[in-house]
Amino acid sequence: MDLDQHVAALSDLPLGGVRYFPQAGSTNDLAMDWANQGAKDLSLIVADEQTAGRGRNGRTWYSQPGTSLTFSLIVKPTLLEHRSIGLFTALAALAVVQAVRSLPGKMDTKIKWPNDVLVNQHKVCGILTETTWIGDRVEQLVIGVGINVCKGSVPSGEILNFPASSLEELAHSQIDRMVLLHSVLLGFLFWRQHLGKRSFLDAWESSLAFMGEQVKIWSLHGSAQLGTIIGLEENGNLLLKDALGNKFSVSDGELHLDHLGQ
Ligand code: BTN
Repeated sequence: MDLDQHVAALSDLPLGGVRYFPQAGSTNDLAMDWANQGAKDLSLIVADEQTAGRGRNGRTWYSQPGTSLTFSLIVKPTLLEHRSIGLFTALAALAVVQAVRSLPGKMDTKIKWPNDVLVNQHKVCGILTETTWIGDRVEQLVIGVGINVCKGSVPSGEILNFPASSLEELAHSQIDRMVLLHSVLLGFLFWRQHLGKRSFLDAWESSLAFMGEQVKIWSLHGSAQLGTIIGLEENGNLLLKDALGNKFSVSDGELHLDHLGQ
């Protein structure tokens, strides 16, 4: 599919601007450059292929031509939104979940805290949010989203940090990447109005993967905490309880399933 011809399909959305690249290094890098040059709120970079896509914690994110939905959205948060600045990644995840749920086929679509979307327990989407600051205020966010749409989008023979798949494989039907992108953006606009509200947290919590299950959270420094997921805190922290029933929360880290021995 030639994404270029379809960018016009987004013209009904209140975007700050749209730039399409058949090939990019990382859409997050292009978006950050554009943001620094004065891009408006909700400006969007879409690429068919990334040659230097980045994931969380220094990982590589693969985007082969014609196979995935790869984009970065620039957000200039309002004063009110600054209170919920840590929730923008979840906002994007909720938008992806809503869009995937509107696809044909009954797929179990959940958010693996903090930033992955799982379909039938396989990772199909990763989100990388990057920010620039002025003093103690976030000036702008770049929310980078990579969705495995076609089979070729899932790297084979690579060490994945979680079992991965693509939407087409799981839905058993063809998916139009531009229709999906439109739907994700609509969801983003919708949930942005709810950011930080109870309705937002309820929607996120009800989409949370592994609720009631024992998981391991690896910190960025390499230490692990074992606990059972019991929900979310208002600030987006994951709430767990340990073997003795004591509650604790984590603000960052990587979630692994304990039974996979990871
Ligand atoms: C992860 O799961 O570790 C996050 C992956 C985020 C990938 C997206 S693809 C679009 C944007 N550009 C990048 O270089 N990364 C993000």
